[in-house]
Amino acid sequence: MLDLSTKFMGLSLKNPIIAGSSGLSSSVAGIKKLEEGGAGAIVLKSIFEEEILHEMNDLMKDLPETSRYLERFDTLDLDLKSENLKKYKSLISDAKSAVAIPIVASINCTYSYDWIEYAEHLESAGADALELNMFFLPTDLERSADEMERAYFNVIEKVLNKVSIPVALKISPYFTCLGQTIQKLSTQGISGLTLFNRFYSPDFDIEELKVTQNNILSTPGDLAISLRWMALMSQKVDCDLAASTGVHDGEAVIKQLLAGAQAVQVVSTLYKNGPFYIQTMLDQLKDWMTRHGHSKLEDFRGKMSQNKSTNPATYERVQFMKYFSGYEEIL
Ligand SMILES: Cc1cc2nc3c(=O)[nH]c(=O)nc-3n(C[C@H](O)[C@H](O)[C@H](O)COP(=O)(O)O)c2cc1C
Repeated sequence: MLDLSTKFMGLSLKNPIIAGSSGLSSSVAGIKKLEEGGAGAIVLKSIFEEEILHEMNDLMKDLPETSRYLERFDTLDLDLKSENLKKYKSLISDAKSAVAIPIVASINCTYSYDWIEYAEHLESAGADALELNMFFLPTDLERSADEMERAYFNVIEKVLNKVSIPVALKISPYFTCLGQTIQKLSTQGISGLTLFNRFYSPDFDIEELKVTQNNILSTPGDLAISLRWMALMSQKVDCDLAASTGVHDGEAVIKQLLAGAQAVQVVSTLYKNGPFYIQTMLDQLKDWMTRHGHSKLEDFRGKMSQNKSTNPATYERVQFMKYFSGYEEIL
């Protein structure tokens, strides 16, 4: 009998595949399907403070000029915030009653006081854990990398002071000193880090000269960045790591576990293949474990991390060097 159980951020999971945050986990019906499909845990669609701000701007536009007073702005802000929080809290409590697997709530805020307020609310609604979906696009030319990065540490400190459920941070790979930042973040008291988020990016329509949307879903080739950093960092951090981006099949799950991941998060493959594809991925994992004589994940977790490698330099190689000669022949 194979044991696929694992722990991520202190939560006991029956298997390492977590349905990551997306529209698939924004309703109780979707959440039930993900559990039926075999997910070990579910991260809910994030509650976005930015969405509330946009909604508020829209509402303000519809108000007559004379009503656009600051007080009205404040009440609207509070109304929308509490309405959104109310809906999200119901989603958490309904999801908790509907499924047995852990439910992780996800927050994306702009201002630090909002992160704290939201975190407290989501904990009180019964979330098993929180994932802070944090990313500030560094477009402010007045702020240094150091200042930008300090914001992450401030938010973590404040949230951890207020909640007692486990907190994970989902980050991007876009830090000036990624390795050092991952290590420093892991020592701040958080229970998990999710490496990495994938973002919406604009594209151009060159005929209409319009900004359009780029590919929303990842491809299996997108695994490379998180695989490298998982292998580089898994033995050098003080919290659990989950891999995210480009995990599309059982093979990718195995690779991330070999790199040292406690769990993987999947989204795009579920949009492409449906929630029941989780079971196929688990079957692929079980088949591989049987063929390699492993009965539990600990038998092989981290076996291909940089620390365990006899040739650690291969993980840090970035230039193509000798491969160029091969390509010149083709050209
Ligand atoms: C349609 C869609 C909606 C998403 N919504 C969220 C979200 O609300 N919060 C979040 O943290 N990540 C969100 N993500 C990012 C995913 O959780 C995940 O990190 C990313 O898609 C990379 O994983 P994948 O390669 O398995 O898709 C979303 C992704 C997609 C495709």
